[in-house]
This record gives sequence, structure tokens and C-alpha cells, in this order.
Amino acid sequence: MPLLEVENLTVTLATNRGPGDAVRNVAFALDRGETLGLVGESGCGKSITALALMSLLPERARIAGSIRLDGRELTTLGEDQLCGLRGDRMAMIFQEPMTSLNPVQTIGRQVAEPLILHKGMTRAAARERALDLLDRVGLPNPAARLDQFPHQLSGGQRQRVMIAMALACDPDLLIADEPTTALDVTIQGQILDLILDLVEERGMALLLISHDLGVIAETTQRMMVMYGGSVVEAGPTAEVFARMAHPYTRGLFAARPKLGPATETPLATIAGVVPELADLPPGCPFANRCPLMIPPCNDGLPPPLPMGPDHISRCIRARELVASA
Ligand SMILES: Nc1ncnc2c1ncn2[C@@H]1O[C@H](COP(=O)(O)OP(=O)(O)OP(=O)(O)O)[C@@H](O)[C@H]1O
Ligand SMILES: [Mg+2]
Repeated sequence: MPLLEVENLTVTLATNRGPGDAVRNVAFALDRGETLGLVGESGCGKSITALALMSLLPERARIAGSIRLDGRELTTLGEDQLCGLRGDRMAMIFQEPMTSLNPVQTIGRQVAEPLILHKGMTRAAARERALDLLDRVGLPNPAARLDQFPHQLSGGQRQRVMIAMALACDPDLLIADEPTTALDVTIQGQILDLILDLVEERGMALLLISHDLGVIAETTQRMMVMYGGSVVEAGPTAEVFARMAHPYTRGLFAARPKLGPATETPLATIAGVVPELADLPPGCPFANRCPLMIPPCNDGLPPPLPMGPDHISRCIRARELVASA
């Protein structure tokens, strides 16, 4: 049995223009020791998917489908039981550490808290363990940091503290939602390497969310490409990059920023914008921006077509697309 099994996950949010599905029919499984990437443009539903897994959805969100952790259904658990799991069996690293750290509590206390709460440690033992964790995540001078406050640390240091907190109880599942977006490029690489080392060291499952295809290519074994709330392509990362089978994946790839000397060619972009939730079309969500669109694309959400071992695409022209390039 996989550690995490998601089936037919749909999340409907209340927007000021009526209800809209931020996540549509998402399904995947994730095992211990596995790394899975989730990539897509802003607004495609990545964070809502992560929040659904953690049962931290916004008020008035409706959830349908199934999320099982070690065979246990999470969508029907009460808040008490969920609190017992969050921070213990599953933990999340958020995009902006400043908004997730408590500004008026010391670093030491915040890292120790899950240990006291979930592991029943004494304050002294938890403080000792917090020191080990801060050391492990590479925070310089960890002993002195225990009694400091978040504003006394740099962005990269705060993100290391968030990672220490997420890892405190040795979770089985770690969700990292754009863990490096707020950081500069050199620090980004260090933090990603740290997360990967820790995932390997502890045999956790990692769901890594990023809008950056390069990050996904370098850090994950399998990947899902999301658009308009649905997973439009998924598969082993190397296989997806070798045979991109959805026009949206190809668009993202063509639009990725490249390193190296500036050239005369302007950066390619995908024309058009991500649809608003209340305006999602009944057919393929990407149809109105897609260079390959044909009338049947508007008939309904395309089913997942098998493209290779464990590789699917929700594009009715996927076979032609792969054959043509
Ligand atoms: N609390 C909310 N109420 C209503 N709509 C919301 C809420 N939070 C997010 N949304 C909408 O849900 C959709 C998916 O949002 P989500 O935050 O999951 O995107 P994302 O892929 O994480 O984007 P980003 O890359 O910008 O973080 C968007 O259309 C967004 O506007
Ligand atoms: Mg997000």
C-alpha cells in the first residue's frame, strides 16, 4: 500500500463570482522515499492541492474524493485527529517563512513545540533536540539562535528554521510548497539540496511544488503538470522531459527562463492567461490558449491517455504531438 493515495480529488472554492473547482479529479500515489514534483503557472491549483492534503483548506471549501495516508481516510477525520497527524506524520514547508513563523516567539520554542505536542517531550529535552535540528539544517551558530526571534534571521535562515520545524517529528510525508521562491538563487540551491538530503536520510515521501520546471527536473523522480486544477500530464520526470505529451507542458518548457548570456530572442511566453475558477470551460482548460486546439477539445475534460510506462497526458492530440517532434 502506498503511503499517500489520492483519488478523484476535487476542491470547490467559493469565489466572489460563484463556486469554482480549484482542483479537479486529481489522482496520484506517493511512497516513502519517493519525490514527486507538482508544476504549473500561478493560479493552477498547486497550493490548494497541498492544503487539501494537509486539511488546511480555506473556509467554505468543499472537498470530494479520497485522500488516504497509510490507508487511513483523511477527508472524513475530525479536527482533533487531524491535529494529531499534522506536524507529526505529515508536515508542510510554506513559501513565505515569515508568514508561517510566529514573530513574537523564539526560534527555539517554535522548533521545540511540535516535539512537546506530539512526542510528549519535556521542555528541556525538546530544546536540546531543537538545537540538534537547527544544527542539522545548517543554521549558523544554532545555540545562539535558540533565543532569537524570526526578524533577527535572514530569509534563507528562516527557511532553514521552517525545515527544522517540519522535520522535528520525522514525518512520513513532507510537502514543500515553493520552498525557495522567496530566496535568492544561490540560497535556493542550498535549501533544495538540504531538503533532498533530509528526504533521503529519513526515507520520507516528498511532494515538491514549484512553478520552475528546472527545479522539478533536478529534484524529482516523478512529476505532475497542473493546469486549471487538473493534472494535464504526469509521469517519471525523465520520461516527461524526453517526450512532453501535452501542449501546456511544451509551452511551459519553451517559456522557461534560461541561464547564460542574454540573446536577441525575446523570452517566449504562453499567450493568454489562466482562466478564473468560475469561468473554467467544460472541456480542456488549456483549449483557449492552445496552438493545437480543435473543436472536440471543448467537449469535455480529456481523459488521461497512456503515453508510456506510468506516463499520461490529458490531451486528445497527445499521440500526434509526440509523433511530430
Ligand atoms: N481562499 C480562496 N478563495 C477563493 N479562491 C481561492 C482561494 N485561494 C486560492 N483561490 C483560487 O484557487 C485557484 C488555485 O489557487 P492556488 O493558490 O492553488 O494556485 P497556485 O497554483 O498555488 O499558484 P501560485 O503559483 O501563485 O502559488 C486560483 O484561481 C486562486 O485564485
Ligand atoms: Mg501556490
